[in-house]
Amino acid sequence: MLRLDDRRLLSALDELAGIGAIEGGGCARLALTDDDRLGRDLVVGWMKELGLDVRVDAIGNVIGLRAGRENLPPVMTGSHIDTVRTGGRYDGNYGVLAGLEVVRALNEAKITTRRPVAIAFFTNEEGARFQPDMLGSLVYAGGLGLNEAYAAADKDGRSVGDELRRIGYLGTTKPGALKPHAFLELHIEQGPILDEEKVRIGVVESVQGISWIEYTVTGVSNHAGTTPMRLRRDAGYLAASVNVFARKLAQEMGGNQVATVGALTLRPNLINVVPNRAVFTVDLRNTDEAKLKEAEACVAAHVAEVAKAERVEVEAKVLARFEPVVFDAGLVDRVERHAKALSLSTRRMPSGAGHDAQMMQRICPTAMIFVPSVAGLSHNIKEHTEAADLAAGAQILLNLMLDLAEE
Ligand code: GLV
Ligand code: MN
Ligand code: MN
Repeated sequence: MLRLDDRRLLSALDELAGIGAIEGGGCARLALTDDDRLGRDLVVGWMKELGLDVRVDAIGNVIGLRAGRENLPPVMTGSHIDTVRTGGRYDGNYGVLAGLEVVRALNEAKITTRRPVAIAFFTNEEGARFQPDMLGSLVYAGGLGLNEAYAAADKDGRSVGDELRRIGYLGTTKPGALKPHAFLELHIEQGPILDEEKVRIGVVESVQGISWIEYTVTGVSNHAGTTPMRLRRDAGYLAASVNVFARKLAQEMGGNQVATVGALTLRPNLINVVPNRAVFTVDLRNTDEAKLKEAEACVAAHVAEVAKAERVEVEAKVLARFEPVVFDAGLVDRVERHAKALSLSTRRMPSGAGHDAQMMQRICPTAMIFVPSVAGLSHNIKEHTEAADLAAGAQILLNLMLDLAEE
């Protein structure tokens, strides 16, 4: 069996984590920032050292291509290298750098596969700076037009198009021009299941649906000491009420339903002033589309009810909405078989997080491989996966890619 060099994988993860490093172990490389550019430059440099033909497309997705014996659709793997502002070092990066180690193993063994092999990293997977999340892979899969993607703006009004140009990653190839034979994404689980159950490999069957809504509430500022409760039009009150409601709703619905109010800003944000403005987000997810719709409707009804009683105005903006995705059953089976062939314990599971793979499933057979996240921590600087697990996942990726690349 061709072995993947896990020490190189670990040192590459370390080196990439040094860019945008946060004290305590994490990373802040928000999409299309200067640190994202430095991260991209580092990975592109590695791709070139490995002899890959590097292509940057018009939404800044980067694909490194290794020629095959025949000019057939490639077997592609990849993920993202952008992070949330308080991210870990493995989310996304692991899948991309493991892909590069697959190429290194092929190079060192002087193997030319029948099909080409491609390693990709996609723009703005996280959605922490620009919405929607999975933006680059969504464009790649034809789910969003370039102009709409370019117009997505961050909190300071800077657009994806301008920022791509500024950091030098507004490429020329057409997103989606290369339609893969199959796509695989290796990723950390980012949740507690594998770690709790002491299972080595997650065989990912699906990704849950996601609904991101931003609410902007307008009330009336007034003196905190003199304004009787009956006269208040408190924008902050609605935000707080929705946060509590969403938590209770998810608990009552049970199953896979989760709900998060992750961003909240109040204006004027002063101790003795009733807020006249609140902007907050609601993130709802469920593996069942009907239940996700039900959760959305319940939150919307609660917002309307409280807004009426408090006499505040509310605007709702959909930042992202993706239905649950089911991966290719045959490819999912192959992930499981390859894990078992290495005597690794497996568990079938849905993904709680969003991934570029869910967009790639729109255009080619796709599957994901999960490895455990210690204590289920992710989007946290303490995110950690044991070296042996990183190595095991990468070895499965190598074996399955070789298999796919010969067919
Ligand atoms: C994106 O990574 C998400 O699932 O929030
Ligand atoms: Mn990720
Ligand atoms: Mn993430």
